[in-house]
Amino acid sequence: MFSGRVPSDLAPNRIAAARAAAAPPFDLTASNPTACGIAYPAGLLDALADRAGLAYRPHPRGLESARGAAAAEYRRWGVEVDPERIVLTASTSEAYAFLFKLLAEPGDAVLVPSPSYPLFEHLARVEGVEALPYHLNPELGWRPDLDVIASAPAGVRAVVVVHPNNPTGSFVHPDDAAAIERLAVTRGWAVIADEVFLDYPLAGGAGSGRSFAGRERALTFALGGLSKSVGLPQLKLAWIVAGGPQELVDAALARLEFIADTFLSVGTPVQLALPALLRDGAPVRAAILERCRTNLDELQRAAAAVPEVSVAPPGGGWSAALRVPAVVGEEELALELLEEDGVAVHPGYFFDFPSAGTLVLSLLPDPAAFAEGVRRLLARVRAHLGR
Ligand SMILES: Cc1ncc(COP(=O)(O)O)c(C=O)c1O
Repeated sequence: MFSGRVPSDLAPNRIAAARAAAAPPFDLTASNPTACGIAYPAGLLDALADRAGLAYRPHPRGLESARGAAAAEYRRWGVEVDPERIVLTASTSEAYAFLFKLLAEPGDAVLVPSPSYPLFEHLARVEGVEALPYHLNPELGWRPDLDVIASAPAGVRAVVVVHPNNPTGSFVHPDDAAAIERLAVTRGWAVIADEVFLDYPLAGGAGSGRSFAGRERALTFALGGLSKSVGLPQLKLAWIVAGGPQELVDAALARLEFIADTFLSVGTPVQLALPALLRDGAPVRAAILERCRTNLDELQRAAAAVPEVSVAPPGGGWSAALRVPAVVGEEELALELLEEDGVAVHPGYFFDFPSAGTLVLSLLPDPAAFAEGVRRLLARVRAHLGR
C-alpha cells in the first residue's frame, strides 16, 4: 500500500533505543543550538511581532525585503548577490527537496560526498532520486576523488558539495571547486553547494571564507539559512542563491518559483523579521563559534594525553571526528559509553567514515559537560587498552 520512498523498517537502531531508555547526562551529540546554553540577545525575536505580518500577501520566491537581507549576507564573503536570484524556503532540507524536484526525474541520481550528513540519503529517496556517494579522501585532507565524480553514470543530474562538510569539517578546496564546476558544465549537471556552516571556521584551510554564490560557469545553487547562521532552526527560514549563466539561471528560477508557489511554505512573520534577525543575530553566531573553539581546544588537549587517540582538526563546522584504536567496534563502544558512562557519541559509520574507529562529537554542548564527557570517553578507551 505504501511507496518505497519511505523505508519499510522504521524501528530505532540499537543506539537510538538505548538513548530512549535513559537520556545521557553527557550528550556529546547535542547539536541543537537552542538547547546548549548559548546566549540569545533579549528582544531577538521582537521583529516577529510586526503587525505587517497580519496581512497575507504571499510571494512564491519570498518577500523582497527578506531576499534583500539574505543577499546582503554574502557581502561577508565578498560576493554581490542579486536578490532576484534568491528563493526562500522553510529549511535547507526543503531547499534540497525543491532542487531535486527541479533537476531530477524519478530514478535519476545526485552525487553526494561521503562521509557526510546522513540525511542526504533520505532527502533524495523521498524525492524518488538516488544519492550516489563520491568519496572524500582522509589522506588528502578529505579532498574528493575527482575520478569517481568524472566517471559518474548517465542519470546523474547534480553534484552536491558541503562547504565545509559535516562532520569532516573540510572546506571544498578552490581547485576542486573549479574542477567540479568544469565537470558540471561538461556533463550538464547543476552544482548544489550546502554552505550552512560557512560562518564557522575552526582550523580553516584552503576554501575557507569563499562562497559558491557568484560562481559563473555552471548552474550553481548555494544554500544557507537561519538554522545555522543565527542558531535559529525553529524559525524555519533558509535560502537558495542561484548562480551561473544567465539563461540557465532564469530558466531555473522560473521553475523554482513554480515549485515554491505550490507550497508557499515560508511564514510571513519570519520573512518580515529576517533583516532584524540577521542584524541582531550576529552575537549568537559569535557565541556559537566561540563555543565550538573552546570545546575543540579541550578535546585536543585531553586527547593529547592518549597517544592512540587523535583528533583530525576540522576546518569548520560544529563537529569533530575522533580516531580511536579499533580495540572494540564503534557501535559497541558507543553503546558502552551510553550505558556505562552516560556519554552519547555518534559512531563514525553513521556518516560512512571509511575506516572503523571514528567517533563523531558535537562541539556545541555546555563546556563543563563536554569536558567531563570527553574525560569519561578517554577513560573508557584507556580501559580497553589495559591502561
Ligand atoms: C550539512 C547540513 N545541511 C543542512 C542541514 C539542515 O539545515 P536546515 O535546518 O536548514 O534544514 C544540516 C543540519 O545539521 C547540515 O548538517
